[in-house]
Amino acid sequence: MQVFESLDELSNAAADAFCKAAKEAIEQRGLFRVTLSGGSTPKRLYELLATKELPWQNIEFYWGDERNVTEDNLDSNYRMVREALLSHLPAESLRAFPVPVDPDNPAATAEAYEKTLRETFAGSDVPTWDLALLGMGDDAHTASLFPETKAIEQNDRWFVENWVPKMETYRYTLTSPAINSARQRWFLIGGSNKRQALASVRSSASDLPAALFPSRLIESPTWFVTRDAVAVS
Ligand code: 6PG
Repeated sequence: MQVFESLDELSNAAADAFCKAAKEAIEQRGLFRVTLSGGSTPKRLYELLATKELPWQNIEFYWGDERNVTEDNLDSNYRMVREALLSHLPAESLRAFPVPVDPDNPAATAEAYEKTLRETFAGSDVPTWDLALLGMGDDAHTASLFPETKAIEQNDRWFVENWVPKMETYRYTLTSPAINSARQRWFLIGGSNKRQALASVRSSASDLPAALFPSRLIESPTWFVTRDAVAVS
């Protein structure tokens, strides 16, 4: 687990690692496919990436989860990434594939994005991302796999709508198999409010079910965390 004194230090390290991973993937396979996390933690990373020299035409951006809002809504993960990163890149080289949210038709929205993903990764029984960027909530959710929600069991699908009772709203999310199929899975976590969840997610205790701590579903992640998110023993 890489521990950083600040979110800015974490974000700079993650940006350097992103550039390294992207260049390696493009050298090896000509393409770098990354699925992005939303929320607030990764925003600084996205802003830093906007200042980097990368072969953007060989990078494809997908979303690991999205809110049930259109792209112009302040809560949209796509809007956050567009403002922090995409709008600063050469438009002609941009390859971004946002979730086509129709707030009135959650099932159709999820099916449409799953179709896009299955076309993108045609011939593969899993989406072979080069990188899945992930955050974690203080309830140990990741993407929009919230505790005790249906999406945690929908392992036959890659991307689903997910009713979140405590928020009384639909979210959209990759399922855990569709995250774990990535070559690399990175958690970016900051803030003392994540301390308890992080300790539970990383615990070796057997009595912490993934249904209650969905970030435990993620296999062999790389951890980028700030010191205030690490429990003091
Ligand atoms: C979202 C995210 C979600 C996020 C966590 C942490 O749509 O909100 O994808 O999984 O990573 O909720 O959010 P913060 O980074 O804002 O703490």
